[in-house]
Amino acid sequence: MSPSAIEVAVLSVPTEPRRLAVVTGASSGIGAQTVVALTATGMEVHAVARRADRLDALAEATGCIAHVLDVRDTAGLDALLAPIAVDVLVNNAGLGRAMGSLTDATYDDVERTISTNVAAVLHACRSVLGGMIERRRGHIVNMGSMAGLYPLSAALYGASKGAVHRLSTNLRLELRGTGVRVTEICPGRVSSEFYDVAIDDPADRAMAQDSGIEEITATDVADAIVYAVTAPTRVNVNRIELQPTEQTYGGSQFVATRGVDG
Ligand SMILES: NC(=O)c1ccc[n+]([C@@H]2O[C@H](COP(=O)([O-])OP(=O)(O)OC[C@H]3O[C@@H](n4cnc5c(N)ncnc54)[C@H](OP(=O)(O)O)[C@@H]3O)[C@@H](O)[C@H]2O)c1
Repeated sequence: MSPSAIEVAVLSVPTEPRRLAVVTGASSGIGAQTVVALTATGMEVHAVARRADRLDALAEATGCIAHVLDVRDTAGLDALLAPIAVDVLVNNAGLGRAMGSLTDATYDDVERTISTNVAAVLHACRSVLGGMIERRRGHIVNMGSMAGLYPLSAALYGASKGAVHRLSTNLRLELRGTGVRVTEICPGRVSSEFYDVAIDDPADRAMAQDSGIEEITATDVADAIVYAVTAPTRVNVNRIELQPTEQTYGGSQFVATRGVDG
């Protein structure tokens, strides 16, 4: 690069205000790595989760601003989001329960999954959209899953992430002409604390955790989020699907139902 090219590059540093991002579910896994990655781009990042000790460590490491909050606390979420000019909202907080069978799900499993993975995402969007539309800029990034797009023996979790998928497609349509972007991130198996929360029985949990493959990392997913968020504003990255090379979805199964009494 010639010296004059360097001078041009320095002079073209954007004069826009520093962009502000909020990441929910920031205390571990994908959310924590997304905070690391977004702060590295120079954004002011607000990190939301319930575990204060984890958030404090993240704030120490990245300079993010920590907010100890349960995303199901709708009033608390609105009190946090509505007054600040959010440019990027990463709706990442989520969990899986009754991963193998809806038949085994408790009432609480259903309530907890839907209130966290779906209702809180809708409420967070409600809190920021008015301001984004007014400022004619903003970006909603929703954490979906391959389980929301393809059949998987996880009816409850799939229902919640399927809802996130349709929320994302329909919100993008509703927001046409506003300048506000909507991206859905759909990972397959990611190495994280997901199964610590999903499965209570230690033996079953250990079995589920041991996929036997090279899983994708939280950093891989965070990189995908950064790609979508830092794309030129003329580009809306609609959906990113990413899965381990050693994992695949789809296909059909043949299972006979005869044999017991037929
Ligand atoms: N791991 C996978 O294979 C995979 C695949 C596809 C999609 N995903 C999705 O990716 C997202 C992140 O999961 P992960 O894999 O990174 O798992 P993780 O390490 O367990 O992270 C989940 C995060 O969500 C937060 N969270 C859960 N309930 C919350 C609540 N009520 N209020 C505030 N924060 C809450 C947790 O923080 P606190 O407990 O501190 O509140 C934690 O920071 C989830 O939406 C998950 O469904 C994961």
